Formats: sequence, structure tokens, C-alpha cells
Amino acid sequence: MSNVMPQKNVHVALLTAQNATEYRELMLEAYDLAADAFTSTAAERAAEPESWWLSRIADPSGLKVAFGAFESNTLVGTVALEFSCKPKTKHKALLIGMYVSAGYRRCGAGKALLQAAIEHAQARAGTLVLALTVTEGNNAAVKLYQLSGFEAFGTEPMAIRTASGFKSKVHMSRTIAVAA
Ligand SMILES: CC(C)(COP(=O)(O)OP(=O)(O)OC[C@H]1O[C@@H](n2cnc3c(N)ncnc32)[C@H](O)[C@@H]1OP(=O)(O)O)[C@@H](O)C(=O)NCCC(=O)NCCS
Repeated sequence: MSNVMPQKNVHVALLTAQNATEYRELMLEAYDLAADAFTSTAAERAAEPESWWLSRIADPSGLKVAFGAFESNTLVGTVALEFSCKPKTKHKALLIGMYVSAGYRRCGAGKALLQAAIEHAQARAGTLVLALTVTEGNNAAVKLYQLSGFEAFGTEPMAIRTASGFKSKVHMSRTIAVAA
């Protein structure tokens, strides 16, 4: 799938409905352990039905997809894409839910996940722009996104309120194709 090969024997694959349970577990870990990085809380997401998780990673419309970084068969990282279907915004997709478990960081998993998501979006006809938000001060994530071609274009003050106070969100985007 991707040209970027992470070290530590981690490989990246598109998630399917079969991965819903482990995806849920990993994202609940993410909302809990990296609370400032996400807009949702672990409690909110823990209350979502199985159908919500299935739709997040394997929506039959193809508008929502997710990628997993696996070591052997264990899911250790993930990122998801949401494509717009509205006539005026269907050239855009949102990159969400980027997380790599602490023991697997700094070995290329995040970069490989991003690369897989970018390639998937590039292969989808008509998708021109990828956008994301990142909590201000999350330098690891900002650096990773910059390395993959994302540029900041604005900051929303007081975007989320976390246990450590209000946080701003930096909006970033990356062009992935040129309009025909
Ligand atoms: C941000 C995150 C996904 C990065 O994942 P990762 O697998 O460690 O990233 P990679 O190993 O692919 O790193 C690629 C590059 O990003 C940069 N980077 C990653 N982590 C970094 C850190 N802690 N400090 C500085 N730069 C960092 C480096 O330039 C790195 O390249 P290098 O290791 O060759 O120097 C991971 O730290 C994470 O899950 N954090 C908690 C959740 C989160 O913040 N999600 C983002 C929500 S917007």
C-alpha cells in the first residue's frame, strides 16, 4: 500500500469491519491517555454503539475509512478519513483520529499511516484537499503533519476545554491533487 516502511515490523493496512472491536479499544485508550489531543472524551465514545464504530471504519458508502498500524496482528496505531459528499465540499476530506500507542512511537508508524491515508485520498477521484485540526502545542503531531506536507492556515482559540484548561486548535491542510 504505502512506500513508507515503518521500523519495528509495523505494517499498515486498511481496516475492515473485522477490526471494529480492536479499533474501539485503541481509540478509547487514545481518548483516555492523550485526552488533550482529541475533541471527544473516552466516556462519550465508550457510550457509542457497535454500529457507530463499524461506520467509522467501514462505512458502506466509502465516505469513512480508517487505517491501522499492526505489529503482527496487534493494532498499535490508527488514522481515519472522512470524505464529504456535499456538492460544494466533496473535493475535501478530513483526517481524524490519529493515534499511535506509546510503546510504538518514533518508529515511523505515524508517518506510514499518514502516507497510506494520503494515497487513499489521492486515489479517490475528485478529492483535492485534506484537512485536519491539531491541538496547539502538540508539537509531535504538528511536526509529523508538516513532514507530510500539511501547512497551518489558522488557529481557533478556545476550541476545546480539557482537564488542563481551554486549548486552541490549529487548522492544517494539504493539497493532494489539482482541480481539473
Ligand atoms: C503524534 C503521533 C501520532 C506520532 O506518531 P509516531 O508513530 O511516533 O510518529 P513517527 O514515528 O512516524 O514520527 C515521524 C516524525 O514526526 C516527528 N515526531 C514524532 N514524534 C515526535 C516527538 N515526540 N517530538 C518531536 N518530533 C516528533 C519526527 O520528525 C518524526 O521523525 P523522526 O522520528 O525521524 O525524527 C504520536 O505521538 C501520538 O499518537 N500522540 C498522541 C496522540 C496525538 O497527539 N494524536 C494527534 C492528534 S491531531
